[in-house]
Amino acid sequence: MGIRILTAQMHIEGIQQLDVYRRHGGYEAFRKVLNAMSPPAVLEEVKLSTLRGRGGAGFPTGMKWSFLAKNTGKPAYLICNADESEPGTFKDRYLMEKNPHLLLEGMMISAFALEAATAYIYIRGELFYVHQILERAIGEAYAAGLLGKNILGSGFSLDIHCHPGGGAYICGEETALIESLEGKRGNPRIKPPFPAVSGLWDCPTVVNNVETLAAVPWIIQNGGKAYAAIGVWKSTGTKLMSACGHIRKPGVYEVEMGLPVEEFIYSDEYCGGIRNGNQLKAVVAGGSSVPILPAALILKTAKGEARLITYESLSEGGFESGTMLGSGGFIVMDHTTCIVKNLWNFTRFYHHESCGQCSPCREGTGWMEKVLHRIETGHGKMEDIDLLSDVAKNIEGNTICPLGDAAAWPVRSTIRHFRQEFEDHVNQKRCPFSK
Ligand SMILES: Cc1cc2nc3c(=O)[nH]c(=O)nc-3n(C[C@H](O)[C@H](O)[C@H](O)COP(=O)(O)O)c2cc1C
Repeated sequence: MGIRILTAQMHIEGIQQLDVYRRHGGYEAFRKVLNAMSPPAVLEEVKLSTLRGRGGAGFPTGMKWSFLAKNTGKPAYLICNADESEPGTFKDRYLMEKNPHLLLEGMMISAFALEAATAYIYIRGELFYVHQILERAIGEAYAAGLLGKNILGSGFSLDIHCHPGGGAYICGEETALIESLEGKRGNPRIKPPFPAVSGLWDCPTVVNNVETLAAVPWIIQNGGKAYAAIGVWKSTGTKLMSACGHIRKPGVYEVEMGLPVEEFIYSDEYCGGIRNGNQLKAVVAGGSSVPILPAALILKTAKGEARLITYESLSEGGFESGTMLGSGGFIVMDHTTCIVKNLWNFTRFYHHESCGQCSPCREGTGWMEKVLHRIETGHGKMEDIDLLSDVAKNIEGNTICPLGDAAAWPVRSTIRHFRQEFEDHVNQKRCPFSK
């Protein structure tokens, strides 16, 4: 069993409560920061850890923090992105539900490093029961003097507010989130300026994912170098993987970066293999937005090397034969899956969730959905397959935010790797998988 950083305490009865969390070493890292560290020293440890953002893009966290504009005369804000709406991704929910104080401690330390006196948790609206868990934990922290003015006599003050979203995937995109938090429609902003310079209320702002922030207490307690020693090359530490689909043991697993994908799928410690002894057909490794890979390419790269759970290994081969780690939403499909129907389903989602600001995304996602529906239901033409690719190509890179890319990549990769299946639908005038 590999090292556990984020899930080490999940099995402890009552760990959601402050006193139990404290009895197991909780808030010791925050105390260490308040007693013995300066904001630049905390930043330095996070830089040394080479922790990369777990929200999907994998941007180095220490570097992001160092971009925060200083001496602007305006307050700085920290926002925890807990919107988690990517199909296939459900690890932040698990973390917040099982160990809310770990996230709060990570936010307290991060806010200290950023010299922010106000922090927000923007939580997916549907997770109302997790919102309640967080509110209870925040209340406990205030009562214990861990939040509020002059925390534990240190001179550092911090308020944390929890704000529910309204159920829109786009509000997970950091600038749409900021718009929404300001009370407006969640439309992404054009960048630059980036939030580090002009974010919430036009003030310097850092937006980080739940899992990113929850890794910070361990980094402070054990040192950035110790974190960097775990994993492989530029993929350090551990990663939460939400595993779902046709596996024997769906769930959230913490893996050390560098674990072979084959071991993750087939080992009893993790997914436990494919259900009913079926054949593995395809995997979407990082949430619905990343390119799909057929069985052969998810287990081994085109060069024949074992595929590992790291940013670098999963993207090996680029868009021709690789994918991305993304947010770690690992969707496994067996040989009974209709890959066209799966793609239609994903595309329906992106069409529904497009904010409508950019024409290529607003119109293109709808066209792709229509064409896919046509093919799946046996009314497609051979030209439709290239039409789909063409529309996807025209969305990619032509939108304000990456939702357009997120809609285009599944289409392009599915056609690239499973073209025959589209042709079978057209030739047979039906879905070969429907009974
Ligand atoms: C459409 C869309 C949805 C997103 N949803 C989320 C989300 O739910 N949670 C998240 O942390 N990041 C999400 N992101 C990425 C954020 O914009 C941002 O990169 C992230 O919160 C930064 O945190 P990190 O550096 O800790 O990864 C989304 C991006 C896009 C384009």
